[in-house]
Amino acid sequence: MADAAGWRERARRVLAQNDRGGYTVPSPGLYPFQWNWDSAVVALGWMTFDESRAWRELDRLFEGQWDSGLLPHIVFHVPADTYFPGPGEWGTADRHHPPTSSISQPPLAATMVRMMSERAADPDLAKRAVAQLLPKLLAWHRWWFRDRDPEGTGLVATFHPWESGLDNSPAWDEPLAAVPPTSRAYARRDTGFVDAARRPRQADYDRYVYLMDFFRQTKFDPARIYAECPYRVADFGLNTILLRATDDLAELCHRHDEPGAAEEMGAAADRSRRALAGLWSEKSGVYVSRDTRTGRLLEARTHSTFLAWYGRVAHSVEVDRRLLAGCNDWLARVPQGLPSTHPDAPEFEPQRYWRGPVWPHMNWLIAQGLAEAGHAAPPTALRHSTRSLIARGGFREYFNPLTGEGYGGSDFSWTAAVTLFWCVPETIS
Ligand code: DGY
Repeated sequence: MADAAGWRERARRVLAQNDRGGYTVPSPGLYPFQWNWDSAVVALGWMTFDESRAWRELDRLFEGQWDSGLLPHIVFHVPADTYFPGPGEWGTADRHHPPTSSISQPPLAATMVRMMSERAADPDLAKRAVAQLLPKLLAWHRWWFRDRDPEGTGLVATFHPWESGLDNSPAWDEPLAAVPPTSRAYARRDTGFVDAARRPRQADYDRYVYLMDFFRQTKFDPARIYAECPYRVADFGLNTILLRATDDLAELCHRHDEPGAAEEMGAAADRSRRALAGLWSEKSGVYVSRDTRTGRLLEARTHSTFLAWYGRVAHSVEVDRRLLAGCNDWLARVPQGLPSTHPDAPEFEPQRYWRGPVWPHMNWLIAQGLAEAGHAAPPTALRHSTRSLIARGGFREYFNPLTGEGYGGSDFSWTAAVTLFWCVPETIS
């Protein structure tokens, strides 16, 4: 990116254009509401040029929080008819205003709050903002540990592939096959914006809809859902993000004179750290997820494995060596990394959403963890790769690792945010 200042200006413009009054839609048309993990990344992007707007993003996200602590994956602040499934489909409007979905998403927020507070040029504003957010973050994390890990295994369950954020990853093929397809009619909207070959298949959607309807029919009863949901997966990626965020939340509690909560979060993180190390698969040479209904490991090789460093999963020197060799190998196999699925895997599809394409924010999370673990070369390669993809394809949602083409939503908010704080930050131009 020769013209770094120009790129930053364009990225700022994307966030401003997607601003709907204190919250940022991921992409106009395709995703016209506020999404949970998108907003966490986007807040860090706003932080590079408008701190009060950055904190506002998270305040608006937490307007969707339920009394139970659940922070839903979508907050439907105002109606829009370009997205399915909208608020009416989730059936939450009589329990919560604004209406929301009834599932969550990878809990990045506590980590972003810590990063934002450490970068803040206005520490008084940051202190006030963190003090306001702290009880809400604690309620969300307690919800994960209580409602999603009622047996105290150290790993929380996801009940819908959308909760993982990696909607149609090959890792979910096996557990999703156990979910009956819906028999009701519905109309997708996503394929009106994006070529169907680049989105999840219809058979996946039939099961996504079945699960959403099942949650509504249980009246969102957590105990019933845990016992009866036909899809229940301990996702390695989500659990590493939760672990990292719980460590960061413990640190924030400590800094804000909440020693009891700091200790509580520290203990939860220790349980999770031990349990995650057990998801290493000797067979596949990567970390994998587990179907907790059948107990089976889901052996797909996905880029989530490389979140182990970001989560600070405790593993042996030998596992670290193999993981690092794996990361370098994945990068060497494609012109532009990191693919979301191993390029030699039979399920690899370079154009289809989470089955092969490169995702800029995942590259950043993985690079962040690698750098913190003292592995210097792959983070640089990841940043260069991400920069050149964005320079060529623009602020797209995801990219083909073989051709570099940009796909999915255009003017994508978290791609713009990642550009601002990682790919082309002020300090390296
Ligand atoms: C979608 O609609 O594609 C989202 O990823 C689900 O939240």
